[in-house]
Amino acid sequence: MKSIIVSMAVAAGLMVAGSAMAADMPAEGKAKCAACHNVDSKKVGPAWTDVAKKYAGDKDAAGKIAASVTKGGSFGWKMGNMPPKGMGASDAEVQSLSKFIAGLK
Ligand code: HEC
Repeated sequence: MKSIIVSMAVAAGLMVAGSAMAADMPAEGKAKCAACHNVDSKKVGPAWTDVAKKYAGDKDAAGKIAASVTKGGSFGWKMGNMPPKGMGASDAEVQSLSKFIAGLK
């Protein structure tokens, strides 16, 4: 019994360590985007780390991501349509979130 408790505690500790490694979504993202996006896994829309890979090496990555987010629609992920600016993000929020997404690894 004791060993079961110990191994559960170890597993819980590993889970905490794993989630701490992924970049945390900025507050405006949690409010306006998190219904459909996670930073590093698919939800309704693509993982933002996958979006960062799509634009890796593109000098204007943040600008292109901001254009997609502002316009909404589909961008070739075949996951459906994204509403323009998610759930009512302001232009400034779209810009800062796009920089955050472009900077993910
Ligand atoms: C109602 C759900 C929903 C919300 C809210 C939403 N998205 Fe999306 N998003 C999607 C879907 C679905 C796609 C994929 C569309 C496709 O299949 O191409 C997507 C795609 C994207 C992409 C990929 C763009 C590209 O050029 O490939 C980015 C970046 C993105 N979303 C950012 C955001 C940000 C930032 C917010 C918040 C301001 C947000 N999304 C809110 C559903 C959503």
